[in-house]
Amino acid sequence: MDKLLIRGGNRLSGTLPISGAKNSALTLIPCALLTEEPLTLRNLPRLADIDGFQHLMGQFGVSVAIRGKRPEEFGRVVTFEASRLTSTVAPYDLVRKMRASILVLGPMLARAGEATVSLPGGCAIGNRPIDLHLKALEAMGAEIELAQGYVKAMAPDGGLPGGDFDFPVVSVGATENAVMAAALANGTTRLFNAAREPEIVDLCNLLVAMGAEIEGIGTSDLAIHGVKKLNGATYKVMADRIEAGSYACAAAITGGEVRLEGANANEMQATIHALQQIGIEVESDKAGISVAANDSLRATNLSTAPYPGLATDMQAQLMSLLCRADGTSVLKETIFENRYMHVPELNRMGADIETEGRTAIVKGVERLTGAEVMATDLRASMSLIIAALAATGETTVRRIYHLDRGYERLEEKLQLVGADIERVGDD
Ligand code: UD1
Repeated sequence: MDKLLIRGGNRLSGTLPISGAKNSALTLIPCALLTEEPLTLRNLPRLADIDGFQHLMGQFGVSVAIRGKRPEEFGRVVTFEASRLTSTVAPYDLVRKMRASILVLGPMLARAGEATVSLPGGCAIGNRPIDLHLKALEAMGAEIELAQGYVKAMAPDGGLPGGDFDFPVVSVGATENAVMAAALANGTTRLFNAAREPEIVDLCNLLVAMGAEIEGIGTSDLAIHGVKKLNGATYKVMADRIEAGSYACAAAITGGEVRLEGANANEMQATIHALQQIGIEVESDKAGISVAANDSLRATNLSTAPYPGLATDMQAQLMSLLCRADGTSVLKETIFENRYMHVPELNRMGADIETEGRTAIVKGVERLTGAEVMATDLRASMSLIIAALAATGETTVRRIYHLDRGYERLEEKLQLVGADIERVGDD
């Protein structure tokens, strides 16, 4: 298994390309199940999770053609064609590796009238139930059975009627599943308290390009008028706002200055606001965002929340940055109950962080020091890299398959802006 070696202390400067958004791609790909015609997605990031999802689509008889970009370029163009489905079952072996596989449930059910998906296993960042995915589909007329670790969803003869659902908790994935299923339902579906993350807007925009009728895009109340048939489309995946935010933190902790080419400031206002509170200068234009850490970092208090609040996927990276700020910061994680696994590892690097339930108290320290650390989940892993870039000495990050799930060619991008980072085989 590979590991990353980082020698901290280099000030990052230069330009970094921002890839297509992983979390958006993971909900755009299953839209291919909604049509017999080809769906071409551009700007798909080259990531283990995307490869896994492509493999899953193959399992259903969807043809997957990867074209275009040269290996040295970022991103790729992939055409999915689900002219005929040969299976409606997502097996445990594939789902276990990738939680987002649950996102085939809604579109498969709408297209084929039935779908069987293995229940995703436990997850390192809390329980992450799927009850809301199932309740929303039930409200639209699906019958759901749970047996032998699988969810089996069935539509009545003649297809899903559609219906109304009020989410008791904002859920990105459950909203995505419901929207995809509703697009092909017989009637209208109204979703209240729906998630309105930019990735949901990206999903709705693709569905509209495929012929769906959706009102309220970008708001928490969506009305989806089901259509008989959706057509194919060619669509560009939005920029990854979490990747951009992560590299902004990486640059800032080194006192650096980087341009995040392709990042969209409109979709990451809460992150930009947090960076500014910490004392980082942020400028944006149509083509990207520039960040510069010219002054010392300031402590601040931050709380995660559903969009347009601060993304939980930015919590760990901002925490690393706050480890080097002047003063004490208080962070609150309101989305997931167990998302502080990076804290013990950061403390091993000299940070001073205490947690109590969903609150973390971060006392800024003069110095972080390199150490051997273990990546636990995707964003937690990134927080360790960020800390390592500012630490004295060398840090070894193991279990980097987490990073390969979500950061396209991480070390190459960081090398582009002057980081001393290399991937080596484990001994
Ligand atoms: C997605 C993102 C993930 C991000 C999260 C929150 C993808 C592939 N993943 O995950 O990176 O951290 O949104 O922005 O896009 N919940 C329930 N029942 C459900 C579903 C969710 O109680 O059926 C709860 C969860 O436990 C959590 C909260 O709702 O406390 C939000 O989770 P959700 O928005 O569904 O996260 P994901 O879609 O899994």
